Amino acid sequence: MRQDRRPYWVKKIYLRFRSWYTQHFLKPACDYLGDYPTFMKPWYISISGPNIEIGRCATIVGEPDGRVKIGVWGADETSGRIKIGDYAMISPGTRISAANEIIIGDSVMMANGVYITDSDWHELYDRGRRSDKVTPVHIANNVWLGDHCTVLKGVSIGENSVVAAGAVVSKDVPANVIVAGNPAVVVKALDPEIEMKTRADFFADPAGLEVFFDGVDKMVLQENGFLNWLRTLIKPNCTD
Ligand SMILES: CC(C)(COP(=O)(O)OP(=O)(O)OC[C@H]1O[C@@H](n2cnc3c(N)ncnc32)[C@H](O)[C@@H]1OP(=O)(O)O)[C@@H](O)C(=O)NCCC(=O)NCCS
Repeated sequence: MRQDRRPYWVKKIYLRFRSWYTQHFLKPACDYLGDYPTFMKPWYISISGPNIEIGRCATIVGEPDGRVKIGVWGADETSGRIKIGDYAMISPGTRISAANEIIIGDSVMMANGVYITDSDWHELYDRGRRSDKVTPVHIANNVWLGDHCTVLKGVSIGENSVVAAGAVVSKDVPANVIVAGNPAVVVKALDPEIEMKTRADFFADPAGLEVFFDGVDKMVLQENGFLNWLRTLIKPNCTD
């Protein structure tokens, strides 16, 4: 389908159901979930384990072929934690797995298939044993993690830095740089003269944003008829 053929009211019902699903099934899985979450296809998002906090205005996108998995598997039932700040963007296929502590700042963006872990999970010489080499991961505000990159145990990434697609980060990354490769190394410095716009700026007025996007939906979808929409589900054509 090239266009959204849903009538406006069908989309409204869908968005209400999506929001209900998030509040009913995913919010209780968190110690804290801030207001204005946008969880897209939330039935493909798994949140499991204790001590998981996600700040306000989080956008998390689940897909059938790319579940988002945020999980704490501590040494016992109550240990381990994941804290994700405000305004996070988490794309399909992202996995955040903590044995001890993963702290992610505000406005952090994760592209498809990002993997963040604070543990190797298995001992090198006794693979049946859980690794006790567990070291926290700290990702500062406004970091951008590129497509399918991996952030390994013990790593801290400084503010505004970018991890290039496919990079494997095994050592600390300073603020305001781009790292790439495996193992990731600094390939470029960001220009401190250029003003940085973040997701925090975008979400400065989340209630106003909701009203704005609702207005856009109303304008774009209001002409869509119910029967024509049903037809597009059964027999779409190239003008749909
Ligand atoms: C990180 C990124 C944004 C940097 O882009 P850029 O500022 O234009 O960087 P450049 O292309 O100038 O690259 C700088 C150097 O790093 C290298 N490099 C860039 N990305 C790389 C990568 N993913 N892996 C390995 N090396 C990489 C370049 O070859 C170049 O090397 P050189 O200086 O020896 O020529 C970009 O490379 C990238 O990874 N984009 C993907 C972003 C993404 O995942 N988007 C998904 C949606 S969120």
